Amino acid sequence: MSPLFSQVRVGRHTLSNRMVMAPMTRSRADDAGVPSTLVPTYYAQRAGAGLIITEGVFPVALGKGYVRTPGIETAEQVAAWKQVSAAVHARGGRIFMQLMHCGRISHPSLLPEGALPQAPSAIKPAGQTWTATGLEEFVTPHALSVAEIASIIDGYRRAARRAADAGFDGVELHAASGYLPEQFLSSGSNRRDDEYGGSVANRARFVLEVLAAMASEIGSDRVGIKISPEMNFNDIVDANPPETYTYLVEQLRGLDLAYLHVALFGASTDYHALLRPLFDGSYLIGGGLDQHSAESLLADGRADAVVFGSAFLANPDLPERFRQGAALNVPDKETFYTPGAEGYIDYPAMSPTASA
Ligand SMILES: Cc1cc2nc3c(=O)[nH]c(=O)nc-3n(C[C@H](O)[C@H](O)[C@H](O)COP(=O)(O)O)c2cc1C
Repeated sequence: MSPLFSQVRVGRHTLSNRMVMAPMTRSRADDAGVPSTLVPTYYAQRAGAGLIITEGVFPVALGKGYVRTPGIETAEQVAAWKQVSAAVHARGGRIFMQLMHCGRISHPSLLPEGALPQAPSAIKPAGQTWTATGLEEFVTPHALSVAEIASIIDGYRRAARRAADAGFDGVELHAASGYLPEQFLSSGSNRRDDEYGGSVANRARFVLEVLAAMASEIGSDRVGIKISPEMNFNDIVDANPPETYTYLVEQLRGLDLAYLHVALFGASTDYHALLRPLFDGSYLIGGGLDQHSAESLLADGRADAVVFGSAFLANPDLPERFRQGAALNVPDKETFYTPGAEGYIDYPAMSPTASA
C-alpha cells in the first residue's frame, strides 16, 4: 500500500492519511474579513485530506495584507469560521487555521484608518502589491516598539483561542514567505538593536514568543509552524539562513509543538537533512511535490506527512485520485484570487463511475 494512506499522529490528533492540504489564500472573504458562504463548501469538498491547513488568516486587523482575506478577530468572523470547521468535521476531516500577519507586505489602503504596515524595522520592501484600486508600491513600514510587539504577540494568543473556540483542531503560525515572523527572523528586514534584533537569538525571539503564547492558550500539541528558508519571496533576505534556521528549530524542541512544516523552493542547502534531526515533533514537507516524490519522502522516513497546494486546490478528491492513479484536474491561475464560486468550488470530483 502507498505510504500516503497510513495513519499518522500529529500532536494531539491522529490523521487518517498523510496528505495535508497546504495553506492557500483564496480571497473569498468580504471587506470586513468575514469568509463568504462558499468557504465551508470549499473546505468540506477537500475533507479527505488527513489535515487541511486553511488559507492565511489575519490574527489582528493590522496583520491584513491582501484584498478579501479573512480574519479571526471579530464575532462575525468567528461565527463564519464555525461553519467551516463544522463542515469539515461533518465529513470526517481535520482542520488547522493558519495565522498570517503580513507585517510590511501590506498597504495603508488595506489597514484600519489607513495605518502604516508594521515591521521590525522601517525598511521598505522592493516591489508592488495588489490593492482594491490596482497595483501600488510598498511603503516604508512603521518600526514596532517593544510594547507594540507585546501587543501583537497577545493578538496571536487571542486569535489562537478564537480559532479553537470556532472549532479548529489547531493553528499554524505562518513564519514563511516573507511575512511578519520571517521579517523578524531575517537580517535584511530586521535591523533592530534591542532584544528583538541583532543576534540570531534575538531575531528568533518574536517567533518563539508567539508560539509560546499560542501554546499556553490552546496547548502546544495543537500548534504548528511553517517556514520556508531561502524562499526569496516578498523581498526577504537573510545573511545566513542555515544558521538562523538551525537555531530556530533547536529552540522549537522545548516547545513540544504538533509539527514543523517546511516548504522549500530552490534552496541551496538541503534544509530537510539539516532540520529534521533537530526537531522532535511531526515533520511536514511541502513545495512542488507530486505523488511519486511524496511517496518516496514518506517511504524513506524523510517526512511524516506531505503537503500539496495547487493539486488540492484543483482536485477536491486528491487522495482518492492518488489511490486510483486517476488523472488530475489542472489548476486555473486566473481564478486563484478572484471572488465567487468559479475556480473555487466548481473543480469536479471524479465521476461515480470513475471512482467505482
Ligand atoms: C493560490 C495560492 C495561495 C497560497 N497562499 C498561501 C498562504 O496563504 N499561506 C502559505 O503559507 N502559503 C501559501 N501558498 C503556498 C502553498 O502553501 C504551498 O507552499 C505552495 O503552493 C507549494 O506547494 P505546491 O507546489 O504543492 O502547490 C499559496 C499557494 C497558492 C498556489
